[in-house]
Amino acid sequence: MVHPGERNIVWHQASVSRADRAGQRGHRSAILWFTGLSGSGKSTLANAVHAQLHARGLAAYVLDGDNIRHGLCKDLGFSAADREENIRRIGEVARLFLDAGVITLTAFVSPFRADRDTARQLVDAGDFIEIHCSADLSVCEQRDPKGLYARARAGRIKEFTGISSPYEVPENPELRIDTGSLGLEVCADRVIAALGERGVI
Ligand code: ADX
Repeated sequence: MVHPGERNIVWHQASVSRADRAGQRGHRSAILWFTGLSGSGKSTLANAVHAQLHARGLAAYVLDGDNIRHGLCKDLGFSAADREENIRRIGEVARLFLDAGVITLTAFVSPFRADRDTARQLVDAGDFIEIHCSADLSVCEQRDPKGLYARARAGRIKEFTGISSPYEVPENPELRIDTGSLGLEVCADRVIAALGERGVI
């Protein structure tokens, strides 16, 4: 990578700050980083939380793996290097949304601890809330909403998380929710409660 200094690029200081935006909106922003196996319920939960935040009149947005891979990250596959780049881009986009004053929910498998930690380190402590959707592999595989586990078991998808590529369980997430056994409403309420405890909302 070429260092910014070598490319004659400097940082332009904006005249409206994150604090100004938060003041106008009446709430802080934060990144809610949902991680877990495919089929663990990340997107479902992120969308349920988003709906509650929206209903309260708060600025929120979901960045979703399946959707982002149709656009911003459509050039990437599922090798470790491509996943690293996928999560790096999402971390940077989430940082921009955070600065824009938006409560940003990201729903990506993000299987590698180092990649999640890189995203965490882009922002201040307290701005990054890691939420492990901890449904067991057996539950995810039974749900198999997109039929991908069946295809992976049949050897038709290489490097499938949980089958032929590892998922590194978060060691100290801010929140761990058993999305395999708890109902969606209970899970969403836990996330909302955590946002209240952390002074985001
Ligand atoms: S990540 O590993 O780079 O974070 P991301 O969340 O963007 O993954 O995309 C995961 C989604 O892509 C899964 O929900 C699933 O629908 C699909 N997918 C396709 N191939 C794979 C694979 N090899 N491993 C995991 N998910 C896959």
